[in-house]
Amino acid sequence: MRDVAIVAASMTPFGELWSLSLRDLFVEAASATLQAAKVDRVDSILVGNMSAGQFVNQEHLGPLFADQLGMAGVPCTRVESACASGGAALRQAYLEVGSGLSDLVLAAGVEKMNDGADVTAVLATAADQETEVYHGVTFPGLYAMIARAHMEKYGTTAEDLAAVAVKNHRHGAMNPRAQFRRQVTEEQVMTSTMVADPLRLLHCSPVSDGAAALLLCPLDQAKKYTDRPIKILGSGMATASMALADREDMAWLDAVQTSAERAYGAAGVGPGDVDVVEVHDCFAIAEICCIEALGLVDRGKGGEAARSGLTALGGRIPVNTSGGLKSKGHPVGATGIAQAIEIFEQLRGECGDRQVVNAQIGMTQNMGGSGASSVVHLFGRV
Ligand code: COA
Repeated sequence: MRDVAIVAASMTPFGELWSLSLRDLFVEAASATLQAAKVDRVDSILVGNMSAGQFVNQEHLGPLFADQLGMAGVPCTRVESACASGGAALRQAYLEVGSGLSDLVLAAGVEKMNDGADVTAVLATAADQETEVYHGVTFPGLYAMIARAHMEKYGTTAEDLAAVAVKNHRHGAMNPRAQFRRQVTEEQVMTSTMVADPLRLLHCSPVSDGAAALLLCPLDQAKKYTDRPIKILGSGMATASMALADREDMAWLDAVQTSAERAYGAAGVGPGDVDVVEVHDCFAIAEICCIEALGLVDRGKGGEAARSGLTALGGRIPVNTSGGLKSKGHPVGATGIAQAIEIFEQLRGECGDRQVVNAQIGMTQNMGGSGASSVVHLFGRV
């Protein structure tokens, strides 16, 4: 494998973007990324997208997007792994450049969720149809069961769950591209509308539109495009049982642990070396489980991490400085790429009020469904 760098990045704001279509979103993020690197053509394009077919009735995204970008003829492929589609697209782009197949690859992600579709039903297609969805459960319900299991096993409290939301809204209030740029109090979280007990409205990521894009090339060519490239240190992906009922421990995310071990192994670093992390907090309990499975805290100790300040800006290991999925928003196919953009900007020192001082190594963790697929990337300053 050749060393691979990210040399440019851009994303749309996330939110309810009624005036922009799916293709508009993709073109806006992709063309801003290309402009930042002063290039007008790439060797290949990979686009994370979960379900444009069901959200906006559009399949066959590859040729559509290449054409809309003025690059008809260039290979362009949609990559799907539910909410981990963006992370999976980044991984494929990394492998394509690393293998020597392509020199310049655009890794993008896009989702247009606010366009009239039954969002909860479309998202539920990423759960096990026969053992879960058929019985009426959807994602808030699945994550509520994970939360209950964690509370039962480790004594995690409603206050712990609320602390994740309070922290991520505080971080997101400093992010100009976040869907919700407002702080919330513990009381507001704990009295917000119940969605699936114990998860309330303010524990949930929202329904979002948005797109994000990154430009990758071999590290030894990176100076052609930027004076501050960021190296991809390692990539790991794993799968686990789709249905919660098939898992040995409902409060533990096997795929997150395995994908992290693979990424740490490839990068030659461990959890103690990481300065800043973006994790997949689609529901507050997910952040708690993910930081455990990534090895950032001991098993069962994720609950107290946000409450103690450990994972806040200024804490030992800041998690979700972008605001996370909770506050920044979660246009599912774009999320994995947007996470990498936050780390790219953190390592370049471009995050303003939410900058982690002297961040050298960053990590992203993006997962699909209730954790049945997970992609982890590690990044470092050059
Ligand atoms: N966090 C904070 N505020 C939210 C919110 C969220 N997640 N979702 C909606 N809101 C706000 C809206 O801005 C709106 O505020 P306003 O009245 O001031 O304008 C209000 O709550 C009602 O919004 P609405 O769109 O009617 O909410 P809803 O009840 O239809 O949807 C959820 C709320 C939680 C059900 C929805 O956001 C959801 O399904 N989230 C989970 C998405 C998901 O599963 N993603 C995949 C993960 S695997």
